[in-house]
Amino acid sequence: MRIIRADNYEEMSKKAADIVKSQVILKPDCVLGLATGDTPLGMYSELINMYENKEVDFSDVTIFNLDEYCKLNRENAQSYFYYMNHNFFKYINVKKKNTHIPNGNAKDIDEECRDYERQIKNKGGIDLQVLGIGANGHIGFNEPAINFEAETHLVKLDEMTIEANSRFFNSIAEVPTSAISMGIKTIMQSRMLILLANGEAKVDAIFKTAKGKINPKVPASIIQLHPNATIIVEKYAAKLL
Ligand code: PGA
Repeated sequence: MRIIRADNYEEMSKKAADIVKSQVILKPDCVLGLATGDTPLGMYSELINMYENKEVDFSDVTIFNLDEYCKLNRENAQSYFYYMNHNFFKYINVKKKNTHIPNGNAKDIDEECRDYERQIKNKGGIDLQVLGIGANGHIGFNEPAINFEAETHLVKLDEMTIEANSRFFNSIAEVPTSAISMGIKTIMQSRMLILLANGEAKVDAIFKTAKGKINPKVPASIIQLHPNATIIVEKYAAKLL
């Protein structure tokens, strides 16, 4: 696992965007796995600038997002469908039909999960997966558990995650308690992983991810086993490394 240190959030975001841009230049019809949350917002801004400067073309790119809340309307400003459209997709030339986010309102959630896996496989798998990390070590919505969940699945959200995400809602009672998430195997089968982290809240999770024992209680620690994983970490989150 490689660790790239950045002096600040802007530098972390630029490095991540440079890697995504390189991937798209190398393979214009690549499959990107993308993440939501505060962490990748700067990377999306950089990529939008690069697109506007004609440095990168997303017209043949396919995107699969990591996760989505259950029982939240897609038009709700807190849904990840809304987040991706409003923070990234609407500013670039990716084709709508090539963007994929699990449907947390599907009638048959198990079938939705199986179908998501099928769609990723039919596209030949993910070339580059971008990850954030929860303060509890989650990746996607793979929460600390007694085992690693393999494929796309229904998740009951951890209390720490509900608490962390309540900052986006009017009250904690409004935060969805379940979600669909790509599984650990789905993520690990990506040909390349980059995990971004900034801020002191992530110090412990980053330390355990990079230096700790591989353990489903720190789901991100599994990426130690990935043959092509890079953590891009800003200096406050890297304090214990
Ligand atoms: P954040 O979330 O980027 O908003 O800190 C990351 C995550 O929970 O995976």
